[in-house]
Amino acid sequence: MSQKTYVMIKPDAVARGFVGRIVQRFEDTGLIIERLEYGVVTQDEAAQNYREHEGKPFYAGLVDYITSGPVVKMVLSGPEAVAVCRKLMGATNPRDAAPGTIRGDFGLSVEANVVHGSDSPESAEREIAIFFGA
Ligand code: RTP
Ligand code: MG
Repeated sequence: MSQKTYVMIKPDAVARGFVGRIVQRFEDTGLIIERLEYGVVTQDEAAQNYREHEGKPFYAGLVDYITSGPVVKMVLSGPEAVAVCRKLMGATNPRDAAPGTIRGDFGLSVEANVVHGSDSPESAEREIAIFFGA
């Protein structure tokens, strides 16, 4: 069954010039890129996207970071899109991410970890609405 997910190339990766290579990896999975947009995340969008982390010690830094420069926002669709993208991204901390995963190959730190991807179909629906509207 086709599923949608929300993926975002984070500011560090855009600034370092990895957009093309990262988009290529998502395309290579066979998932369809339904939406793709370059832009800056607002404080409000960041707060909505990361509401599950509110109150955690890294929350303020996370919001500052994701709003610090342009990102690339995408909606991808296809079978098991959420899990396929999470697997391709690798572990949250690039030091734990396997070689061949996007974070394993391009990640600098747990904060500057290159990509965001929805963690469930429910999160995907919520995040797509935040960044692309209902
Ligand atoms: P994401 O939401 O960005 O796809 O990452 P994730 O599901 O793998 O990780 P999550 O637990 O949702 O954390 C969201 C982002 O917060 C930053 N983080 N920092 N300093 C820390 O201990 C810490 N833990 C998480 C990361 O940038 C992570 O991507
Ligand atoms: Mg997450």
